[in-house]
Amino acid sequence: MNELLNDAVARALTYLDGLDSRSVGPSAEALAALSELAGPWAAQGSNPDDVLAKLDRLGSPATIASAGPRYFGFVTGGSLPVALAANWLAGAWDQNAFSTVSSPLGAALEMACLDWLREIFGFPKGVGGAFVTGATMANFTALAAARHAVLARRGWDVEQDGLFGAPPITVLVGGEGHAAMLKAVRMLGLGEGRVRRLEVDDQGAIRADALPVIDGPTILCLQAGNVNSGAFDPAAALIPAAQQAGAWVHVDGAFGIWAKAAPARAELAAGYEAADSLAVDGHKWLNVPYDSGVTLVREPDHLRAAMSISAAYLPDAAVREPYDYTPECSRRMRATEIWAVLASLGQAGLADLIETCCRQASMLAEGLAGAGYAVLNEVRLNQVMVSFGDDERTARVIEGLQADGTAWCGGTHWHGRAAMRISFSSHATTDADVAKTLAAILRVARSNR
Ligand SMILES: Cc1ncc(COP(=O)(O)O)c(C=O)c1O
Repeated sequence: MNELLNDAVARALTYLDGLDSRSVGPSAEALAALSELAGPWAAQGSNPDDVLAKLDRLGSPATIASAGPRYFGFVTGGSLPVALAANWLAGAWDQNAFSTVSSPLGAALEMACLDWLREIFGFPKGVGGAFVTGATMANFTALAAARHAVLARRGWDVEQDGLFGAPPITVLVGGEGHAAMLKAVRMLGLGEGRVRRLEVDDQGAIRADALPVIDGPTILCLQAGNVNSGAFDPAAALIPAAQQAGAWVHVDGAFGIWAKAAPARAELAAGYEAADSLAVDGHKWLNVPYDSGVTLVREPDHLRAAMSISAAYLPDAAVREPYDYTPECSRRMRATEIWAVLASLGQAGLADLIETCCRQASMLAEGLAGAGYAVLNEVRLNQVMVSFGDDERTARVIEGLQADGTAWCGGTHWHGRAAMRISFSSHATTDADVAKTLAAILRVARSNR
């Protein structure tokens, strides 16, 4: 076993060492070779050393180098070394974070992390929380608690009686709310087609005067960080008004809510601490490995009501049992990497990580604007959108950059225009990487007039 695991470490280190010098996207040859993964399943097994060698030979060159310093696609954090190391240890532990009995360690890590996270985001002590796969499931989990609460206030027990005959719930989402938010709405039987979309400004944030009259069970979903522009819905104006009218306010803060951790950016996220629930990703800006997301719910009883289970073989919970707060029962111990990163960075280190990404986004935006290209959003966080003229040319530049391999950026559409979308969320990116990326984008843009 030791030989095999040491081999895995050596291969992983070789892979990580090569990230800076390789093409960010895989070559056509590397992708073609993936066909070797398939084929008839062998009747007899293979030597594990050979299996690992094959996985490395085929897999490593075919990866997207998103763990490296110049991947700016989607919103994809890298993995801090301490997070990866903790992940390896957690893999060896193979704990089931289901309960305090199946893993006392898992339960303790979750408690410690919840307290740190609620402090970062301004939630009260004793907050309810769940460690899930990402923001999509974190939104789902929080909205299940919201659904419970707004119906319980009307005397309806949604966990027992379902939604058949229940008082209708109004769900309010900004016109630029993330698709994952709508998917969560759909999965909970609240009906994507019944969602009321609220008017947004030119950055995609809900207008402060867009709140309709709230009447009956209502869930208002705000967004801290638009996936294209990075814009924040005006929480300080919307949350008190919605809550006074009896609504539950949920925040999809997948990446943007981390602004609260950086004093110079915290103003952008002001007011969100009053929300009833929050969804946030670990695998984006906190730079822990996939998969990792967290739900926080101000009043834990609502989350517990939505998620708890009972079975003859379970203890009568005198302490917080993780299975009472999460959609899954058995699951990996996701709090491990979050704990390691928060412990390692401390407040100052986390502030620096967030601030550096924001500063680098501004650096790149200034470079692009200085070269005469149209930056389409106000760059106040970590997101940059740029057009290179007409849509065809912008598409050619995106494709050209991906083929060039120095850096990887994806595309989007913003106000009817094609744009390159550049997201800064990796600890691995240095200012020299920003300069190298700018030079590559300009080189490709100039050769695609
Ligand atoms: C605002 C927002 N919400 C939700 C998501 C979905 O997150 P995940 O892919 O972690 O489920 C994203 C992903 O970029 C996002 O930006």
